[in-house]
Amino acid sequence: MTKASYEILRKKTAEALAGGGPDRIERQKQSGKLTARERLDLLFDEGTFQEVGRFVTHRCSEFGMDKKKVPGDAVVTGSGLIQGRLVHAYAQDFTVLGGSFSEANSEKIMTVMDRAMEMGTPFIGLNDSGGSRIQEGVCGLSGVAGVFLRNTLASGLVPQISAIMGPCAGGASYSPALTDFVFMVDKTSHMFVTGPEVIRAVTHEEVSKEDLGGALTHNSKSGVAHVLAADDRDCLAAIRELLSFLPQNNIEDPPVKRCYDDPGRREPDLDELIPENSSTAYDVRDLIRKIVDDSGFFEIQPHYAQNIVVGFARLNGRSVGIVANQPAVLAGALDTHASRKGARFVRFCDSFNIPVVTLEDVPGFLPGKQQELEGIIRDGAKLLYAYCEATVPKICLITRKAYGGAYCVMSSKHIRGDYNFAYPGAEIAVMGAEGAVNILYKRELAECDDRELIKEKLLHEYKEKFANPYTAASRGFIDEIIMPSETRPKLIMALERTRTKVQKNPVKKHGNIPL
Ligand code: HXC
Repeated sequence: MTKASYEILRKKTAEALAGGGPDRIERQKQSGKLTARERLDLLFDEGTFQEVGRFVTHRCSEFGMDKKKVPGDAVVTGSGLIQGRLVHAYAQDFTVLGGSFSEANSEKIMTVMDRAMEMGTPFIGLNDSGGSRIQEGVCGLSGVAGVFLRNTLASGLVPQISAIMGPCAGGASYSPALTDFVFMVDKTSHMFVTGPEVIRAVTHEEVSKEDLGGALTHNSKSGVAHVLAADDRDCLAAIRELLSFLPQNNIEDPPVKRCYDDPGRREPDLDELIPENSSTAYDVRDLIRKIVDDSGFFEIQPHYAQNIVVGFARLNGRSVGIVANQPAVLAGALDTHASRKGARFVRFCDSFNIPVVTLEDVPGFLPGKQQELEGIIRDGAKLLYAYCEATVPKICLITRKAYGGAYCVMSSKHIRGDYNFAYPGAEIAVMGAEGAVNILYKRELAECDDRELIKEKLLHEYKEKFANPYTAASRGFIDEIIMPSETRPKLIMALERTRTKVQKNPVKKHGNIPL
């Protein structure tokens, strides 16, 4: 009797581990993808994954489904350790009914999501699915909707990461969209609400799967995705790396990594980084790499809205979120896309107790009819709102330009910046000298004979008065004017001094960020 029961367990376990069978697994491999279980093995520290719900089966009998039952029902769920810390996860198994969401397997996913929230651990979804299980009708939909609810409830409570490692079709794509970071694997992943066939039928547009919802499309054009991975292994390794910067939940602090990079390190090269001519571009990533621990920078959305650079790094072993204007793209001006990208990142950092370090070189919001019609007012307000409501330590360094509204928005003293530094060549003003002189002296310049000479003089006067950090410093809007070479020690000092910061916003149900 006992031996027979052991045999039943062995048989059922083998069935569950076999997924959709050798042919479908072979097809999965041929298309360049790992299986769900291989992915989980790579994601977690070796031997730590504990599966739950291995023998769950679906409850559908329509369309001959009673003969298509595989234990586990197309998704592997459970928990394990990543760098020794507990994480909950699911991985959809495309070899079983296309990894589709059923009522039963969604319940498995919901269970691990509930556990992630109760235990206060990050939650990771590895997506490879044809969407809601068509044969189950509304029952399949009910499952996906339950996952959406939990994604929303978990938002800001525990970090949520989605990896798209195959198709992610239909309304099911809204689950990853509700999470904090979306990784996509190049060539093998696709994400769309309606696929190319539906689009052809409804709008008569011809578009390839790749152009519509490929990894590069969502990483560079739509901004739906945040990290572009070369293949499954690269994707899983990148998720592990990202997690190393994050706390387990919203009441913990991020882990501190032992730092072997001298916190007092000065970088004489930095004194030469900012060009003399304030219109000449430079790559802000060069500055970031020089100041953070071991040049380590995990960039988020490096292909999207490149006029702003955001990502995680460490300063003296502590995680920081870096937000930097990028003078090498659109002169670092803030447009609608950059504003949204920056706002989302600042809000993430604030939710999870990660100090925000802002490197500012911004000529303002991007002018133009297109920008105004796209809603730069609303989107710029998102970034402003995110900085205003953030209560984590906010450290700002003005490397060069800080003009107008963009100056106010980018972590200024007036919106609760904790430490505000500037380089000696910083220009802090309402607008650039050229624009200001043209407006202030429009009539005089139009009337005078020696227009160019007068204008030159006025520009000089304006720059003397405003295009420097001293007026702001004299008002206390800048705490210290520092040499570029001492950036790293100064930022580390500011982080240390703000480590115990406690700041609270008024109690309310929630604010109404201008979405
Ligand atoms: C049930 C599905 C399925 C689904 C795929 N399969 N999607 N079974 N429900 N949603 C099954 C297929 O029947 C097939 O079974 C196996 O998975 C592999 O699918 P193939 O089509 O052979 O693979 P491939 O050519 O790689 O194409 C993958 C695909 C395609 C692009 C995902 O299957 C597809 O377009 N599926 C439908 C996508 C979609 O429109 N989903 C939206 C559903 S509605 P066999 O037995 O032959 O191996 C939705 C709304 C959610 O999700 C709303 C929430 C509120």
